[in-house]
Amino acid sequence: MSKVYNFSAGPAILPKSVLEKAQAELLDFNGSGMSVMELSHRSNWFMTILEEAESGIRKLMNIPDNYKVLFLQGGASQQFAMVPMNLLVNNKQADYVLTGSWSKKAYKEAKAFGEIQVVGEDTINHIPSLTKEMFNPKADYVHITTNNTIEGTAFSELPDTGDIPLVADMSSNILSTPIDVSKFGIIYAGAQKNIGPAGLTIVIIRDDLIGLASGSIPTIFDYKTHAENNSVFNTPPTFSIYVAKLVFDWLQELGGLEVIEKINREKADLLYGALDQSNMFEAPIKGRDRSLMNVPFIAANGDKELEAKFINEAKENGLETLKGHRSVGGMRASIYNAMPLEGVKALVDFIKEFERKNS
Ligand SMILES: Cc1ncc(COP(=O)(O)O)c(C=O)c1O
Repeated sequence: MSKVYNFSAGPAILPKSVLEKAQAELLDFNGSGMSVMELSHRSNWFMTILEEAESGIRKLMNIPDNYKVLFLQGGASQQFAMVPMNLLVNNKQADYVLTGSWSKKAYKEAKAFGEIQVVGEDTINHIPSLTKEMFNPKADYVHITTNNTIEGTAFSELPDTGDIPLVADMSSNILSTPIDVSKFGIIYAGAQKNIGPAGLTIVIIRDDLIGLASGSIPTIFDYKTHAENNSVFNTPPTFSIYVAKLVFDWLQELGGLEVIEKINREKADLLYGALDQSNMFEAPIKGRDRSLMNVPFIAANGDKELEAKFINEAKENGLETLKGHRSVGGMRASIYNAMPLEGVKALVDFIKEFERKNS
């Protein structure tokens, strides 16, 4: 098999050493004689995996004790509904910052549960400037998407929402840099980018936001259900949790989030630098709003055929899944934690060579 670098936005590249470990243990987990996929979620074997996964992410993100970590299913899309179901209880009002397709989907879902205000301009190519005065003092929470996977923008600074809980969809940049968890009420993320295989959704929730709507919403959608049952109210995505634990171990061995942030900045600088120097390609997002994780780029002259040729030839050269999201076109390189620097170097070399050959 020839070497491939996978730039998919998700499900995305996983660290090779993690896949190798999972492969080595696949048929016999820890001397159990069973695959991890075959273990009961109530067995001591799996309970240990779950505990280690939780302590792994707690350590990496320095999660304070007054937050629960929940291992759920349903994807980030389910959180678009669970957040308003659980939190729109006091004034039934919330503020949403719209910075791309995913935040719009979250907003659309929330509108079914209360009065939702859009704060800042509705934008897809930059992060709006937000001041504390712009938020509705009666809002039960403020929702942001910290990294816009499709558009390639990211918050470089968190909005100050005062006492209003800040809820963040962090699906595409969780674990990419250190963050201060205490600034958030809820952080949620689908696993399939920086955490592990699809099927797992991580929710980090402050204790006082648990149980606010209990009794009025279905049991399975109540954060309290999962908090009280340590994420095993029903069968959790056991294999995804196991691989997530291996990813947390890998990050810890690498040196934690300070180290991965350095690597991520180096990769992003290299790629944006090459695009900024190019006469053929352009990165539409500029300055501090640029995502470290998802880098969209286009042919500077808008030539769609040139873009298609680039994507095809890149694939022939082992650079996979560079097609931009169907809603925006062009190209997109997702360079999550597990993408090695060599992968970004290979892409940059290919961009330069393609430009030389086709100008
Ligand atoms: C920022 C963001 N939010 C939400 C989603 C939807 O996630 P899921 O497919 O896990 O529901 C995605 C998926 O790519 C995403 O990138």
